[in-house]
Amino acid sequence: MELYNKLKNKKEKISIIGLGYVGLPLALSFSKYLDVVGFDINKSKIENYKKGLDITNEADTSSLINSKILFTSNEDDLQNCKFHIIVVPTPTKCDNTPDLSPLIEATKTVARNLSKGSVIVYESTVYPGVTEDICIPIIENESKLKCGIDFKVGYSPERINPGDKIHTLENTVKIVAGIDNESLNIISKVYELIIEAGIYKAESIKIAEAAKVIENSQRDVNIAFFNEISILFNKLNIDTSAVIKAASTKWNFINLTPGLVGGHCIGIDPYYLIHKGKTLNTDLNLLNTSRLINNNMSKYIVDSTIKCLIKANKKIKNCRIAILGITFKEDCSDIRNSKVFDIIKDLKEYGIEVIVSDPLADSTYLKSNYNIDLINIEEIEDIDGIILAVPHLHFKDIPISNIYKMFKVYNQTPSYTEHEYIEKNVIIDIKSMLNKTLIDFNNFIYWSL
Ligand SMILES: NC(=O)c1ccc[n+]([C@@H]2O[C@H](COP(=O)([O-])OP(=O)(O)OC[C@H]3O[C@@H](n4cnc5c(N)ncnc54)[C@H](O)[C@@H]3O)[C@@H](O)[C@H]2O)c1
Repeated sequence: MELYNKLKNKKEKISIIGLGYVGLPLALSFSKYLDVVGFDINKSKIENYKKGLDITNEADTSSLINSKILFTSNEDDLQNCKFHIIVVPTPTKCDNTPDLSPLIEATKTVARNLSKGSVIVYESTVYPGVTEDICIPIIENESKLKCGIDFKVGYSPERINPGDKIHTLENTVKIVAGIDNESLNIISKVYELIIEAGIYKAESIKIAEAAKVIENSQRDVNIAFFNEISILFNKLNIDTSAVIKAASTKWNFINLTPGLVGGHCIGIDPYYLIHKGKTLNTDLNLLNTSRLINNNMSKYIVDSTIKCLIKANKKIKNCRIAILGITFKEDCSDIRNSKVFDIIKDLKEYGIEVIVSDPLADSTYLKSNYNIDLINIEEIEDIDGIILAVPHLHFKDIPISNIYKMFKVYNQTPSYTEHEYIEKNVIIDIKSMLNKTLIDFNNFIYWSL
């Protein structure tokens, strides 16, 4: 416990390696109690943090400026730290196998600057075995120190949900694990400083790694179930959201909704388990199928949009469609692995003009990396269809009459008869954001998952 006391008395420092969606809130939280060094290889990110700027919106300017965190890209600063938390990305490669290169590079950086008596904790999501079988040998090799004797290692999965102001880092139980009891106790004490909800001490590092990766994989499977049944219910002309609402009255019904599964976690983590299974000749069929179902949803949504446009007597080529929301999920600025990109690409292949509005996404980044211009919602006009892709709170507040005003035909012809050749408009409400009782079905073809 000597190290814990030194950290608390600010005689030693803690470092956070990787200051992204997870690392930055973690660094800010620890900085209320400890001396924190925040290290990231992205120099412009570091410069922004120093100025109090966080484009992910996870941190506000005053908390960044007042935090006293030493933001740095200089790895020498890690030499002054005795407790390191590594929280770098764990993406997949093009073939959906794990890309451990950021984790390996971060591990080498820490190892190069490691001193005896230090503790290294991994928070990145991995498959069971990565910390002990891959990372520890790298640390030993680079530092020439011995694990268990010269330094300790632990794992504590990150469970925050960016954009979620209810389930926060502090009020979610934190799983911790260590290579031995001594490390488990120190790591637990350190996290207890910031986690109000308490610590769960896992029996081993592999158990903690597995616990995290199954949390997200289970969610992927459950969402795949809802996606599959929503396709059936659409064919049966049954409102899926009404079915789910009715079924949710049973106490043990798992209440999820169908939708796109993108992002950095749920759409990625199952591949880590699938990969590990393959190395052991074990096919994880349920996970594989769920990934397939969820990945195909963007194509299903585009197919359904085209069918609705045809039913609405629209000429597909040169139709103008507005998409509301491009981030991978609601109330979050993260666009990584967003399936809305697939929708945009497929619609464009039909010759459809696509315009996109998202108040949370980074417009400069979207322009330079995807050549997508974001427009303000007030600027949307003359459209033939709208896809409510991501139900940001911002969109939920829009009165339906304002949505109607965005349409080409609706502006021109206020009332319709039941004439079958009359041109209608199309609303694709992926997440059933709108109140269906308010929809003007005479003038609109409405579709939701
Ligand atoms: N974002 C989430 O919602 C979430 C939730 C739970 C767990 N996780 C897991 O946490 C980990 C981090 O995710 P994130 O969303 O914070 O990623 P992120 O991309 O937002 O941030 C990672 C940061 O690490 C930096 N980085 C990359 N390589 C580095 C290196 N070698 N040295 C130092 N810094 C380096 C990047 O520049 C980036 O700023 C992943 O394993 C992810 O699966 C993420």
